Amino acid sequence: MPRFFAMTSRGLVDVLADELKEIGMERVLKAPGGCFFDTNWAGCYRANLRLRTATRVVLPVLDFPAYKPDELYHNIRKHDFTKYIAADASMAVDAVVRDCGAFKDQRFVAMKVKDAIVDQFREEFDVRPDVDAKDPHLRLVVRGIANNFAVSVDTTGEPLFKRGYRTGVVPAHLKEHVAAALVRMSGWKMDAPIIDPMCGSGTILIEAALMALNVAPGTLRKRFAFQRFSGFKADEWENELDAALAEEKEELPFKFQGFDVDREAIKIARDNARRAGVEDFVEFQRQAFETLDAPVEKGLMITNPPYGERLLEKNEAIEVYKNLAFLLKQKFKGWEAFVLSGDPELSKAMKLKAARKFPVYNGTIECRLLKYEMF
Ligand SMILES: C[S@@+](CC[C@H](N)C(=O)[O-])C[C@H]1O[C@@H](n2cnc3c(N)ncnc32)[C@H](O)[C@@H]1O
Repeated sequence: MPRFFAMTSRGLVDVLADELKEIGMERVLKAPGGCFFDTNWAGCYRANLRLRTATRVVLPVLDFPAYKPDELYHNIRKHDFTKYIAADASMAVDAVVRDCGAFKDQRFVAMKVKDAIVDQFREEFDVRPDVDAKDPHLRLVVRGIANNFAVSVDTTGEPLFKRGYRTGVVPAHLKEHVAAALVRMSGWKMDAPIIDPMCGSGTILIEAALMALNVAPGTLRKRFAFQRFSGFKADEWENELDAALAEEKEELPFKFQGFDVDREAIKIARDNARRAGVEDFVEFQRQAFETLDAPVEKGLMITNPPYGERLLEKNEAIEVYKNLAFLLKQKFKGWEAFVLSGDPELSKAMKLKAARKFPVYNGTIECRLLKYEMF
């Protein structure tokens, strides 16, 4: 059985490991940047279709040390890449290289890997694949760290967080897989609605609604890289897709609620929800959170307030955090709140003791998801 690797952002490896086990993947092993797992190709299709917290699924094929260009070239030739695509198809190599002595330029590494693969095709078929960096049939991911090279075949294509429902974004929006991870980290049992008082483009609530409705995020996409491989089994893919669609729910016993002061953000959030097919289950309203009342006695709030550096000046952001703490204490007694903070100075201004803290990276910003129990 092949061993695949699901990639994700820093801080999300634990939730990704849980997800992989839930969808039936075997021998799940956490590693920096993601998780290894065993499955067959139908399982790889399923992982791409269903994973909410991964960015990409790859098939690691080679792992070797190399100090000279020739060593790199000959090691690449040890794997037969001609089995993935036809000789007249297209390919691309993405290389990232760190501390690799003579290999300082990642473009050089990418070119050497490409040359080795092109030569394989030429020797076997007299024809070579073209290079197409934008939309190749086969994309290889090469990582060289301290002269150890790992080569993987990308099975995903466009990253998995690009679900396809976004029409627009607000500044400092969350990527979809990060929003889905926040919802999972909250321990939400899908039995009650979630409120996001600073919802921006609505990502947290849209991801939560997709989860509650059991919509596999990949059903919203048009294409995956594996569909263009020579060995693609269309019938197995159809089975995976049909099974996922059959598990979708039509109704929910509650509605999610999102608020934002920004009129444009609310418009974008509504458009996104419509495109994700969850508009009947999420209500977005323009309202400053300072004026909110708790709609039920006990509930769950998940939110991502503005960051000082990207949206507002720091002092304004501090006011937002202080007001959020005031709101939680005054109006949301009995609730649990999860706040994604990108700056300890901001969360400190809340003067509330967090029951738990989870490290999460939103792009390059190191954040904390802070859990507050208001009881
Ligand atoms: C970091 S963004 C949220 C991004 C969102 N999670 C997403 O993925 O699109 C913070 C949002 O808080 C909103 N906001 C700031 N002050 C607010 C207030 N007093 N009441 C409601 N929303 C507010 C901003 O308009 C902004 O859209």
